[in-house]
Amino acid sequence: MKKITIAIDGHSSTGKSTLAKHLAKTLDYIYVDSGAMYRAVTLFAIENHFIDENNFDKDALISNIESVTIEIKNEGTFPTVLFLNNKEVSSKIRGMEVSNLVSKVAALPEVRKCLVREQRRMGEQKGIVMDGRDIGTVVFPKAELKIFMTASAQIRAQRRYDELIAKGETVVFDEVYENITSRDQKDSTRADSPLTQANDARVLDNTNLTQSQQYTIVMDWIKALID
Ligand code: CDP
Repeated sequence: MKKITIAIDGHSSTGKSTLAKHLAKTLDYIYVDSGAMYRAVTLFAIENHFIDENNFDKDALISNIESVTIEIKNEGTFPTVLFLNNKEVSSKIRGMEVSNLVSKVAALPEVRKCLVREQRRMGEQKGIVMDGRDIGTVVFPKAELKIFMTASAQIRAQRRYDELIAKGETVVFDEVYENITSRDQKDSTRADSPLTQANDARVLDNTNLTQSQQYTIVMDWIKALID
């Protein structure tokens, strides 16, 4: 069976990673959560005091970016198990502190260049599902299947809020809502690799779809491409 590249982009908290992981498992493909990589670099910047809510020493981050090592281990678990400079940070990168700063870090061309190089290396052999913001437009512009995921902001915030509460975090709904809408705004308007729908992407609005309904739709697209 032909191996293809599947690029999933879209708004924050649309369930891209959950879908991507499910598809990769079924197809026995590699799964890469590119957002986790941007989150890891953001945590690195926070821990080294290069960024906080008021200041951002971009030059310091840029001159240290090559010393960052990110290792992703997909052991059938979700969220992705990720090591930043050999330290396991899978849970830490999902917290609100990282969420509130990641879009500033992700807007830096030097950070993007470094991570995109790594992402392309991971996809050299095809047989990969990668999700993010610029996968179909920049990382793999020739991907055989490009999906652009969206849903209403209210639904997305509710899903993310439920997820954080289930993990035991103390959060308020309005803060989560504000975070996802302001990230979408920043991600869509930045100069380098903004979040935008590729011309040949298929739109998947899952506001009123269950995970199983959406999986069936996408698997039908995939079957038509690989059979
Ligand atoms: O899980 P969620 O949809 O909330 O976000 P994520 O996929 O973990 O991505 C976190 C942030 O990383 C995004 O808001 C973007 O600022 C950035 N990102 C990016 O710029 N390019 C990517 N390919 C993936 C993520």
